[in-house]
Amino acid sequence: MANRRDWLRTSLALAAGLPLGTTLAERLMAAPVSETEKIFFSGNLPPMKIRLASNENPYGPSDKARAAITQIITEANRYPFQATVDFKQVLATHEGVTPDHIAVGSGSADLLSATGAAFGLEGGRILSGFPTFPMLMNYAEVFKATWDKVDMDENLAYDYEAVASRIKDDTRLVFVCNPNNPTGTLVDPAKVKAFCEEVSKKVTVFSDEAYLEFLEPSKQVSMVDLVKKGANVIVSRTFSKIYGLAGLRVGYLVAKPELIKKITRNQPGIPNNQIALAAARASLGDTAFMEMSRKKNAEARKHLTDFLDKKGYFYGKSHTNFVMFDPKGDALGILNKLAERSIAIRAWDYKGMQWLRVSIGTSDEMRLFTKAYDEIIS
Ligand SMILES: Cc1ncc(COP(=O)(O)O)c(C=O)c1O
Repeated sequence: MANRRDWLRTSLALAAGLPLGTTLAERLMAAPVSETEKIFFSGNLPPMKIRLASNENPYGPSDKARAAITQIITEANRYPFQATVDFKQVLATHEGVTPDHIAVGSGSADLLSATGAAFGLEGGRILSGFPTFPMLMNYAEVFKATWDKVDMDENLAYDYEAVASRIKDDTRLVFVCNPNNPTGTLVDPAKVKAFCEEVSKKVTVFSDEAYLEFLEPSKQVSMVDLVKKGANVIVSRTFSKIYGLAGLRVGYLVAKPELIKKITRNQPGIPNNQIALAAARASLGDTAFMEMSRKKNAEARKHLTDFLDKKGYFYGKSHTNFVMFDPKGDALGILNKLAERSIAIRAWDYKGMQWLRVSIGTSDEMRLFTKAYDEIIS
């Protein structure tokens, strides 16, 4: 149980707008993921026109979401209390659980942060592969936890055996992400499921499934099945990626009710809003839109990987809307020169090297990117 001081720390840290909040926001929300980015972000950056830095869906919002947004505008004067209750019910039905198994957040980042705070307050260790989406661990570290990182395997895939071998007595939570960000790689879901089932007997497992819908429907295996069996597993999903609603901020968790309670008490204020909930509700299960996004993303991604193959770059085999590769050199120089052309991408530190991660935009954007990149390195 967290004591009063811990509570104060949580609420202070998570409250928006306070001086402490500003520092945390800088550190955690727009966190540089490399030394290269620390230098890059400290410069005077103009707004970027070609945004290949945040794994957004260039085709969203869907027509259904747009219609729902227009329709709900008249309700914007009302708090979203009932809308949240209703949406939880919709999600519960969609996932085959009861509403007390669901938490809805302002993006899944909200829930990753709240989970990081809830577990971080207890101290101990959070274990994950590395590099991965760091938000939960960054939050846990702000409190009292230590982040144990396990390198990817030689193909830049999450190394589940290595992660399992690093669980210690005081490991409180194991974070997994399949497909993984920033590497884009996928591990056989049967293997991940066996891992989650086994590990969750001892430690809580957090399964971040932000990019699951980029897989063909028959390959989308969620760990929600384990939640239904009562396992100590937390699943996070988002409307920011395949559904193209990143700017509206909707994500959710599926976990057993005691875990949902433990996490949501660290959520700040009233995290949902009418418009976002209506758009997410209209988008949920829109197979035509997802199919179109998946197909266009795969075409544009192929243009990028063909270019990387031609240039002989090593990259993670991506099942998502981004690709991480070894630029064999000056990542900062490349970021700067791309920025001069109004193209934004990301740079990551891993194994003493600098890596670049490019999100998949439209085919036109990817053509512009590869042309600019080619000119920069020639
Ligand atoms: C793996 C992963 N999880 C969670 C998030 C957070 O997304 P959101 O807060 O928009 O749901 C991201 C964002 O890029 C991500 O890559």
